[in-house]
Amino acid sequence: MLIAGNWKMFKGPEEAGVFCRALRDADLGEVDVVVCPPYVSLGEAVGALAGTEIGVAAQNVHWAAEGAFTGEISAPMLRELGVYVAIVGHSERRQLFGETDETVVRRALAAIEHGLHVIACVGETEAEREAGETGSVLRRQVGAIAAGLNEAGVAETDELVIAYEPVWAIGTGKTATPEMAQEAHALVKSILNVPVLYGGSVKPENAYELASQPDVDGALVGGASLDLESFATICREASHS
Ligand code: PGA
Repeated sequence: MLIAGNWKMFKGPEEAGVFCRALRDADLGEVDVVVCPPYVSLGEAVGALAGTEIGVAAQNVHWAAEGAFTGEISAPMLRELGVYVAIVGHSERRQLFGETDETVVRRALAAIEHGLHVIACVGETEAEREAGETGSVLRRQVGAIAAGLNEAGVAETDELVIAYEPVWAIGTGKTATPEMAQEAHALVKSILNVPVLYGGSVKPENAYELASQPDVDGALVGGASLDLESFATICREASHS
Protein backbone atom coordinates (compact mmCIF):
# COMPACT_ATOMS: atom_id res chain seq x y z
CA MET A 1 0.00 0.00 0.00
CA LEU A 2 1.48 3.33 -1.13
CA ILE A 3 0.18 6.71 -0.06
CA ALA A 4 1.58 9.65 -2.04
CA GLY A 5 0.90 13.26 -1.13
CA ASN A 6 0.78 15.49 -4.20
CA TRP A 7 1.35 18.99 -2.91
CA LYS A 8 0.85 20.62 -6.33
CA MET A 9 1.96 24.29 -6.20
CA PHE A 10 1.87 24.55 -2.41
CA LYS A 11 4.63 24.73 0.23
CA GLY A 12 7.86 26.56 -0.58
CA PRO A 13 11.14 25.29 0.90
CA GLU A 14 10.61 26.65 4.39
CA GLU A 15 7.12 25.21 4.82
CA ALA A 16 8.21 21.95 3.21
CA GLY A 17 11.04 21.57 5.72
CA VAL A 18 8.74 22.18 8.68
CA PHE A 19 6.16 19.71 7.33
CA CYS A 20 8.70 16.97 6.56
CA ARG A 21 10.41 17.27 9.94
CA ALA A 22 7.02 16.80 11.60
CA LEU A 23 6.20 13.92 9.23
CA ARG A 24 9.27 12.05 10.49
CA ASP A 25 7.70 11.80 13.92
CA ALA A 26 4.10 11.15 12.81
CA ASP A 27 2.35 7.79 13.16
CA LEU A 28 1.82 6.73 9.54
CA GLY A 29 0.86 3.11 10.10
CA GLU A 30 2.41 0.41 7.96
CA VAL A 31 2.15 1.97 4.50
CA ASP A 32 4.82 3.23 2.11
CA VAL A 33 4.71 7.02 2.06
CA VAL A 34 5.90 9.52 -0.55
CA VAL A 35 5.59 13.29 -0.61
CA CYS A 36 5.61 15.25 -3.89
CA PRO A 37 6.65 18.85 -3.26
CA PRO A 38 7.14 21.53 -5.92
CA TYR A 39 10.62 21.43 -7.54
CA VAL A 40 12.03 24.25 -5.43
CA SER A 41 11.18 22.38 -2.21
CA LEU A 42 12.52 18.97 -3.22
CA GLY A 43 16.00 19.52 -1.77
CA GLU A 44 14.59 20.66 1.54
CA ALA A 45 12.25 17.63 1.69
CA VAL A 46 15.07 15.20 0.85
CA GLY A 47 17.21 16.71 3.61
CA ALA A 48 14.45 16.67 6.19
CA LEU A 49 13.48 13.06 5.42
CA ALA A 50 17.02 11.65 5.12
CA GLY A 51 17.40 8.37 6.96
CA THR A 52 13.64 7.67 6.96
CA GLU A 53 11.59 5.32 4.77
CA ILE A 54 9.55 8.26 3.44
CA GLY A 55 10.22 8.94 -0.23
CA VAL A 56 10.28 12.22 -2.12
CA ALA A 57 8.85 12.54 -5.63
CA ALA A 58 8.91 15.26 -8.26
CA GLN A 59 5.61 16.29 -9.86
CA ASN A 60 6.94 15.95 -13.41
CA VAL A 61 10.14 15.07 -15.29
CA HIS A 62 11.40 15.72 -18.82
CA TRP A 63 12.46 12.97 -21.23
CA ALA A 64 15.83 14.44 -22.18
CA ALA A 65 18.81 14.24 -19.84
CA GLU A 66 19.66 17.85 -20.63
CA GLY A 67 19.07 20.35 -23.40
CA ALA A 68 17.37 23.54 -24.51
CA PHE A 69 14.06 22.91 -22.74
CA THR A 70 13.29 26.03 -20.75
CA GLY A 71 11.35 25.33 -17.59
CA GLU A 72 11.91 21.57 -17.61
CA ILE A 73 13.84 19.32 -15.21
CA SER A 74 15.53 16.02 -16.10
CA ALA A 75 15.71 12.66 -14.38
CA PRO A 76 19.49 12.85 -13.78
CA MET A 77 18.99 16.26 -12.14
CA LEU A 78 16.38 14.79 -9.82
CA ARG A 79 18.65 11.88 -8.95
CA GLU A 80 21.47 14.29 -8.17
CA LEU A 81 19.13 15.88 -5.65
CA GLY A 82 18.28 12.51 -4.08
CA VAL A 83 14.83 12.27 -5.69
CA TYR A 84 14.05 8.80 -7.08
CA VAL A 85 10.33 9.08 -7.94
CA ALA A 86 8.40 11.28 -10.37
CA ILE A 87 4.73 11.78 -11.20
CA VAL A 88 3.95 12.06 -14.92
CA GLY A 89 0.75 12.85 -16.77
CA HIS A 90 -1.21 14.40 -13.92
CA SER A 91 -4.55 15.59 -15.28
CA GLU A 92 -3.68 19.20 -14.42
CA ARG A 93 -0.69 18.86 -16.75
CA ARG A 94 -2.80 17.16 -19.41
CA GLN A 95 -5.57 19.75 -19.19
CA LEU A 96 -3.67 22.98 -18.49
CA PHE A 97 -0.21 22.43 -19.95
CA GLY A 98 -0.76 20.46 -23.14
CA GLU A 99 0.49 17.09 -21.91
CA THR A 100 -0.54 14.29 -24.27
CA ASP A 101 -0.44 10.50 -24.13
CA GLU A 102 2.68 10.70 -26.26
CA THR A 103 4.57 13.10 -24.00
CA VAL A 104 3.45 11.20 -20.90
CA VAL A 105 4.93 8.01 -22.35
CA ARG A 106 8.17 9.76 -23.27
CA ARG A 107 8.50 11.18 -19.77
CA ALA A 108 7.70 7.87 -18.11
CA LEU A 109 10.11 5.83 -20.22
CA ALA A 110 13.01 8.24 -19.83
CA ALA A 111 12.48 8.39 -16.09
CA ILE A 112 12.47 4.60 -15.80
CA GLU A 113 15.56 4.34 -18.00
CA HIS A 114 17.32 6.77 -15.67
CA GLY A 115 16.40 4.68 -12.65
CA LEU A 116 13.43 6.64 -11.29
CA HIS A 117 10.16 5.14 -10.10
CA VAL A 118 7.19 6.62 -11.93
CA ILE A 119 3.62 7.37 -10.89
CA ALA A 120 1.76 7.79 -14.19
CA CYS A 121 -1.70 9.36 -13.91
CA VAL A 122 -4.73 8.46 -16.01
CA GLY A 123 -8.43 9.18 -15.72
CA GLU A 124 -11.55 10.31 -17.52
CA THR A 125 -13.27 13.70 -17.46
CA GLU A 126 -16.83 14.14 -16.29
CA ALA A 127 -18.09 14.45 -19.88
CA GLU A 128 -16.28 11.25 -20.83
CA ARG A 129 -17.78 9.36 -17.89
CA GLU A 130 -21.27 10.65 -18.68
CA ALA A 131 -20.84 9.60 -22.31
CA GLY A 132 -19.93 6.09 -21.15
CA GLU A 133 -16.36 6.50 -22.39
CA THR A 134 -14.47 5.75 -19.16
CA GLY A 135 -13.31 2.36 -20.41
CA SER A 136 -12.14 3.58 -23.79
CA VAL A 137 -10.30 6.55 -22.27
CA LEU A 138 -8.48 4.29 -19.81
CA ARG A 139 -7.69 1.79 -22.54
CA ARG A 140 -6.20 4.59 -24.65
CA GLN A 141 -4.18 6.21 -21.83
CA VAL A 142 -2.92 3.02 -20.21
CA GLY A 143 -2.54 1.31 -23.59
CA ALA A 144 -0.18 4.10 -24.72
CA ILE A 145 2.01 3.52 -21.67
CA ALA A 146 1.95 -0.26 -22.13
CA ALA A 147 2.86 0.09 -25.83
CA GLY A 148 5.69 2.47 -24.99
CA LEU A 149 7.10 0.06 -22.42
CA ASN A 150 6.86 -2.80 -24.90
CA GLU A 151 8.64 -0.88 -27.63
CA ALA A 152 11.39 0.07 -25.22
CA GLY A 153 11.73 -3.58 -24.19
CA VAL A 154 10.74 -2.92 -20.58
CA ALA A 155 7.39 -4.71 -20.62
CA GLU A 156 8.00 -6.01 -17.10
CA THR A 157 8.85 -3.23 -14.72
CA ASP A 158 8.74 -2.74 -10.98
CA GLU A 159 9.40 0.94 -11.47
CA LEU A 160 5.90 1.93 -12.57
CA VAL A 161 2.72 2.64 -10.66
CA ILE A 162 -0.46 3.94 -12.28
CA ALA A 163 -2.67 6.47 -10.48
CA TYR A 164 -6.32 6.31 -11.55
CA GLU A 165 -7.63 9.82 -10.98
CA PRO A 166 -11.06 10.59 -12.42
CA VAL A 167 -10.70 14.25 -13.42
CA TRP A 168 -14.17 15.09 -12.08
CA ALA A 169 -13.11 13.93 -8.60
CA ILE A 170 -9.91 15.98 -8.35
CA GLY A 171 -10.20 18.88 -5.94
CA THR A 172 -13.97 18.80 -6.19
CA GLY A 173 -14.92 16.91 -3.05
CA LYS A 174 -16.65 14.36 -5.30
CA THR A 175 -15.05 10.97 -4.84
CA ALA A 176 -15.51 7.94 -7.02
CA THR A 177 -17.45 5.31 -5.12
CA PRO A 178 -15.29 2.39 -4.00
CA GLU A 179 -17.09 0.29 -6.65
CA MET A 180 -16.24 2.79 -9.41
CA ALA A 181 -12.62 2.84 -8.31
CA GLN A 182 -12.46 -0.96 -8.15
CA GLU A 183 -13.93 -1.32 -11.63
CA ALA A 184 -11.51 1.19 -13.13
CA HIS A 185 -8.51 -0.31 -11.33
CA ALA A 186 -9.36 -3.80 -12.53
CA LEU A 187 -9.57 -2.48 -16.09
CA VAL A 188 -6.19 -0.72 -15.77
CA LYS A 189 -4.60 -3.91 -14.44
CA SER A 190 -6.06 -5.94 -17.30
CA ILE A 191 -4.00 -3.74 -19.65
CA LEU A 192 -0.90 -3.24 -17.53
CA ASN A 193 -0.26 -5.39 -14.49
CA VAL A 194 1.16 -2.82 -12.09
CA PRO A 195 -0.02 -1.40 -8.75
CA VAL A 196 -2.80 1.18 -9.12
CA LEU A 197 -3.36 4.11 -6.77
CA TYR A 198 -6.70 5.91 -6.53
CA GLY A 199 -6.73 9.72 -6.57
CA GLY A 200 -9.50 12.30 -6.40
CA SER A 201 -10.74 13.84 -3.14
CA VAL A 202 -9.23 11.16 -0.92
CA LYS A 203 -9.84 12.22 2.69
CA PRO A 204 -9.49 10.69 6.16
CA GLU A 205 -13.21 9.78 5.98
CA ASN A 206 -13.05 7.76 2.76
CA ALA A 207 -9.48 6.42 2.75
CA TYR A 208 -10.30 3.16 4.51
CA GLU A 209 -13.16 2.15 2.25
CA LEU A 210 -11.30 3.04 -0.95
CA ALA A 211 -8.12 1.30 0.16
CA SER A 212 -10.12 -1.80 1.09
CA GLN A 213 -11.01 -2.51 -2.54
CA PRO A 214 -9.03 -5.49 -3.83
CA ASP A 215 -7.40 -3.66 -6.74
CA VAL A 216 -6.74 -0.38 -4.93
CA ASP A 217 -3.06 -0.44 -3.99
CA GLY A 218 -2.84 2.99 -2.45
CA ALA A 219 -3.77 6.63 -2.97
CA LEU A 220 -2.52 9.80 -4.59
CA VAL A 221 -3.76 12.51 -2.26
CA GLY A 222 -3.87 16.19 -3.22
CA GLY A 223 -5.58 18.72 -0.95
CA ALA A 224 -5.80 16.44 2.08
CA SER A 225 -2.05 15.78 1.99
CA LEU A 226 -1.20 19.40 2.81
CA ASP A 227 -2.27 19.11 6.42
CA LEU A 228 -0.11 16.81 8.52
CA GLU A 229 -2.85 15.36 10.70
CA SER A 230 -5.14 14.72 7.75
CA PHE A 231 -2.33 13.09 5.71
CA ALA A 232 -1.18 10.94 8.64
CA THR A 233 -4.76 9.85 9.29
CA ILE A 234 -5.19 8.82 5.65
CA CYS A 235 -1.97 6.77 5.91
CA ARG A 236 -3.20 5.03 9.07
CA GLU A 237 -6.67 4.39 7.64
CA ALA A 238 -5.17 2.83 4.52
CA SER A 239 -2.83 0.83 6.70
CA HIS A 240 -5.81 -0.77 8.49
CA SER A 241 -7.53 -1.69 5.23
P1 PGA B 1 -7.30 15.97 -4.59
O1 PGA B 1 -6.17 15.86 -5.73
O2 PGA B 1 -6.99 14.91 -3.56
O3 PGA B 1 -7.14 17.35 -4.06
O4 PGA B 1 -8.62 15.72 -5.25
C1 PGA B 1 -5.69 14.60 -6.14
C2 PGA B 1 -4.65 14.80 -7.20
O5 PGA B 1 -4.79 15.71 -8.02
O6 PGA B 1 -3.64 14.07 -7.26
